[in-house]
Amino acid sequence: MRRELIAGNWKMYKTQKETKAFFDNNLALFSQNDKDVVFFVPFTDLNQAVQSVEKSNIEIGAQNVHFENEGAYTGEISCEMLKETGAKYVLIGHSERRKYFGETDQMVNKKLKAVLNAGLCPIICVGEQLSARQSGEYLEVIKNQVFNAVEGVALDERTAIAYEPVWAIGTGKNASSMQAEEVCSFVRGLISEISKEASEKIRILYGGSVNPNNIKDIMKMKNIDGVLVGGASLKPDFVKIVQYDKQ
Ligand code: PGA
Repeated sequence: MRRELIAGNWKMYKTQKETKAFFDNNLALFSQNDKDVVFFVPFTDLNQAVQSVEKSNIEIGAQNVHFENEGAYTGEISCEMLKETGAKYVLIGHSERRKYFGETDQMVNKKLKAVLNAGLCPIICVGEQLSARQSGEYLEVIKNQVFNAVEGVALDERTAIAYEPVWAIGTGKNASSMQAEEVCSFVRGLISEISKEASEKIRILYGGSVNPNNIKDIMKMKNIDGVLVGGASLKPDFVKIVQYDKQ
């Protein structure tokens, strides 16, 4: 059985002070669960967040990483630097990184290798634009993103893949649970072409306008092992998503 993974992506929100206040006020509530719960916070909040959740079952992750160990890469952060903060997870290839910062499938592949070598847990993000959904080419897009991302990588249970259709991110228009399941099951099938064992172990998440009202339907799906939540993870109400099975 795959353990459920509920992840919050804070994007470029919350200062250190706000991070501390969030966990001071809500940690006890968030800790009441039997899932993997991870908050992806801005780099500057990592130390504070790790310290805040220290005595709980909550984990902290970074939203990006550079694939080199060190070097003249102004503005970048390495896996070792992340590890030293106590972060355990890293998001790779979020659509906002691809769109605004030119991240390519090849960079995603290098980052995935670096993250696994460093002993961290990656969540690879894939997802089609609205145009590919409308033209019916979305599975082809996903296939390319997934195969390019994992090329030459021995996948194990540390790796998760998040299907996040770009048209559903931050729009309030989530994919239906059937649409999400179609792609998540397709992704599992792609992984099984490489390794049957890995395909049974890795967790596949859905992301894009997940909220306390749609979480139950999404989590009912056979191939969806969790969610990656943006906007709704910034508020204490995120606990309703984390504890969707207790409502
Ligand atoms: P959203 O973002 O939940 O605000 O749509 C999801 C994401 O970007 O991971």
